Amino acid sequence: MTRRPYIVGNWKMHGTRAMLSEARAIDRAAQRHMKVEVALAPPFTLIHPIHREAEQISVGAQDCHQADGGAYTGDISAAMVADAGAKFVILGHSERRQGHGESDALVRSKAQAALAAGLRIIMCCGETAQTRESGKAVAFVKKQLKASLPAPADAPADIAERITVAYEPIWAIGTGNVATTADIAEMHAVIRKLLVDLYGEEQGREVRILYGGSVKPENAAEIFAVPEVGGALVGGASLTADSFMGIALAAGEPSDH
Ligand code: PGA
Repeated sequence: MTRRPYIVGNWKMHGTRAMLSEARAIDRAAQRHMKVEVALAPPFTLIHPIHREAEQISVGAQDCHQADGGAYTGDISAAMVADAGAKFVILGHSERRQGHGESDALVRSKAQAALAAGLRIIMCCGETAQTRESGKAVAFVKKQLKASLPAPADAPADIAERITVAYEPIWAIGTGNVATTADIAEMHAVIRKLLVDLYGEEQGREVRILYGGSVKPENAAEIFAVPEVGGALVGGASLTADSFMGIALAAGEPSDH
């Protein structure tokens, strides 16, 4: 791993202003763990308050709309989240793909809008339990990711700085069922090859690939030791500073890759 591990908390639809104290504690702890890049993606309503106080962590959104603006009741554009202080946006999370019917093409258009607004993106991908059981997980993830990421012709030159990929098998999210290290290693290697094929050796090699799905302080070290794992996208365990920073601490430990 040549770049700093990247540990991103996805608070999903959790958090009112009462949670600002937890964000403060995460920010303070992150100042003591500079070997790790720590970030939080709270609900939209907390982006600005957390950004205003944060000294170390970066703040991001969990989604954005693909248009710059217009008659889209209830939606939020990439420029708006950037204006609120977001530096990145999570896109294509399975809870958006499944719960809101987001297609690969829609996710790709959101990615283009986010990059145009100056945001970094965390592009999620991952298969269902049925797809894995039928032996089609690799083919599915390759196809989903290729169709969701910006096409090479539309990608910024500094792709490795702007894009992170998160592999999150759907059956591992919020279930306590972590993928085996062999499965993680296989899928991350497949994703790495795809990134190199799409964006070339220099950039494709440097894009960070996160694992997500029931990452906890107890299993983090084992996951971070897997080749090509550049960090984690953390849901449930990011809601308290204790458990989230336990994961960040594991990422900062020296490993042999
Ligand atoms: P989890 O969620 O850590 O609660 O499994 C991960 C995610 O959905 O990003």
